[in-house]
Amino acid sequence: MDTRDLVRSLRMVGSRNGWRAVGAAWRRYRIDARDLPRRGAERARVPGAAYCAEPLPGGGVVRFAQSALRVRVAVGGAVFCGWDGAGPEPSYALADECPEADTRAVLEPDKDGWRVVSERITVVVFRHGAVEFRTPGGVLLRRELPPRWWDGAGRASRWVQRAQTPADAAVFGLGGRACGPGLTTGSYRLWNTDPSSAFGPGDDPLYITMPVQLVVADGGCHLVFHDNTWDGRVILREGVEGAGSGHDRPGSCEVRFDGGPLRYWVVAGSPSRVLGTWTALTGRPALPPRWALGYQHARWGFGDAQEVRRVAAGYRERGLPVSALHLDIDHFDGHRIFTVDNDRFPELPGLAVELREHGTRLVSIVDPAVKAEPGLAAYDSGSAADAFVRDARGHVVRGLVWPGETVFPDFTEPRVRKWWGGLYAERLEQGFAGVWHDMNEPTSFAAFAPYGESTLPRSARHSLEGRGGDHREAHNVYALAMARAGYEALRELRPRERPFLFSRSGWAGMQRYGGTWSGDVATGWPGLRASLALVLGLGLCGVPYSGPDVGGFHAMPSPELYVRWWQLSAYLPFFRTHSAINAGRREPWEFGPEAEECVRAALAERVRLMPYLYTLAHLAHRTGVPYVRPLWWHDPEDRKLRGAGDAFLLGDALLVAPVLEPGATERAVRLPRGRWYDTATGAFHEGPGQALLDAPLHRTPVLARAGSVLPVAVDGGLELEVWAPAAGRTGTGVLITDEGDGWAEPRVERFTSRWRVGAVAVEREGADEAGYVLRVRGDA
Ligand code: NOJ
Repeated sequence: MDTRDLVRSLRMVGSRNGWRAVGAAWRRYRIDARDLPRRGAERARVPGAAYCAEPLPGGGVVRFAQSALRVRVAVGGAVFCGWDGAGPEPSYALADECPEADTRAVLEPDKDGWRVVSERITVVVFRHGAVEFRTPGGVLLRRELPPRWWDGAGRASRWVQRAQTPADAAVFGLGGRACGPGLTTGSYRLWNTDPSSAFGPGDDPLYITMPVQLVVADGGCHLVFHDNTWDGRVILREGVEGAGSGHDRPGSCEVRFDGGPLRYWVVAGSPSRVLGTWTALTGRPALPPRWALGYQHARWGFGDAQEVRRVAAGYRERGLPVSALHLDIDHFDGHRIFTVDNDRFPELPGLAVELREHGTRLVSIVDPAVKAEPGLAAYDSGSAADAFVRDARGHVVRGLVWPGETVFPDFTEPRVRKWWGGLYAERLEQGFAGVWHDMNEPTSFAAFAPYGESTLPRSARHSLEGRGGDHREAHNVYALAMARAGYEALRELRPRERPFLFSRSGWAGMQRYGGTWSGDVATGWPGLRASLALVLGLGLCGVPYSGPDVGGFHAMPSPELYVRWWQLSAYLPFFRTHSAINAGRREPWEFGPEAEECVRAALAERVRLMPYLYTLAHLAHRTGVPYVRPLWWHDPEDRKLRGAGDAFLLGDALLVAPVLEPGATERAVRLPRGRWYDTATGAFHEGPGQALLDAPLHRTPVLARAGSVLPVAVDGGLELEVWAPAAGRTGTGVLITDEGDGWAEPRVERFTSRWRVGAVAVEREGADEAGYVLRVRGDA
């Protein structure tokens, strides 16, 4: 244990459940010492020489002396590779059944071994087990070296696989990483973890880890997904280009897992095609209700219903629209989930109705841990349903969370998901409009890591959909399975409304059920930067709806930092202020009149952009393309853009350059190709290149792409803001509308902007006119 762990543990012991966390750590340690299979003698193995191959639909199997590799191209273009007989299923990541094999792809002999040619990727399998993935033009995307296993009698094999990527490759993803969005040389753990205190860019891993890497290089982009839920590590080393000598050192990526199958998917193409294929495989992002794109306010420590009313009234009186207020664990009775403290929150449904009259909804936190207390409905019904995780000897595992001693539902069991989902009826009856899943790594407090890692014992048993296994395999998908339970319950209990659900932890595929947020991001400028890194990185893993705790979680931000956080978050999908119980307030008026005015302007812009944001939500849902995209999205071969993680594209039309440093009055921003208008002045800059933009405290620099057509809300109506195309060019825009909730097919309108007789005109697909009031902007 290093000093940092010790300090953290001690802090937790002090602030959370005191010395009980020491006992919990000890108990957890003892269970694992008793029940975890010991690592005995192991035998290392490599595939050895290939001796034959058989074609199968979509590819085939190559047989090696000590293993076999199945290559299978699926309809849609994703390539599956599975060693040692591993197939694509069962998988927690896949949305439905595995897509059909693309029968046009056939395994055939090649001078190096065998190859499978498909529309987007050519796979070459070498005679000793290396595998190359090339573009149809022959450019190398990725070369996997032969894997190595360590087999032990009666135990899961550990394995490692190293891959080489082009020397110029940049890697993104791996879930929510505070140090991104571009991941530098280093070791990244794959084990969902509550960092126990507020985190900054140096903290890793965090709540959401995913073996998903998006690799961007001059020669092309690809995504690789190792479908394995066990504890693992990805070790990245950057490549070095040979400075003209032609001797590049490729980048390298080593993937290690403590067990589980060696199987992975590779998807190649433009960034939008990659995200499209990836989310076709793992599920399109859930479409949030429209109100979930509005500004929301949470508080750990609202105290009572009167305080909630006061805060709501504060926003109202100042003309600051707040679409939801989130109630944290302090509204429960003694922190027991699915209860309400009726003294402090009498008549919660009434409060919900009252707030709703002013356009504000209530959202409830939901933790997985159930207080181990006979008489508590969730505990009694869960015990009757045999819903709680047990140890290898059959005893229910006890942990420690906010209410004290707790037990944990096994969400990897369909029957338990159903039982759990039934409990959400109580939340709906209390008037809540959505749920906020927390502490679901799962976290169980334990002091003194590593013995007392703050989660369930690794030997704890799980159903894993009836296959049976332990927490080593179930840990990383615990929150994903909880999200499934919550999402399916909300759909069933309130079938006419789209569920609003976001979850602190998760895994590949979590976007099917909802979004996420930063978790306890540290108050401070590094935390602000980490907030953007998280949103961008998660978007590239297929999870587009996320955002930070505006202002940071654990301490009071300066007015300047608070304003800059607001300004960034006003352009992020999930826009919510939140803070820890003792961290001070986050209402805008707490930060002085100047800050309040800046916040007002940022919020007004958010409201104005709502039709655009909602269109982006629909697009994310239809195509997997995130609302918030890195600057290189359309120019992946621009290396300078690949290195620029301090600004982003919001859809195709806007480039947002938030201020992430104290004391700034201007900031430089890298521009992708094309003409970009400064939305404050209307002046334009030509990209690629760099522009210096004014950034006084009251302003976030935002640029608009020439030709873009943005739907905006003006005085309750809808208008199109059109940024003049460059001479001889055209531009585009789209508007997707629906009733804001429900499942009806939305209306899609596409627009083209062009110069027509000396003026900018907009046509709607299938019509000559746009059909909306136009606001033409930009000094063309
Ligand atoms: C941890 C969450 O990250 C935080 O947002 C929440 O306020 C606390 N748990 C208390 O529920």
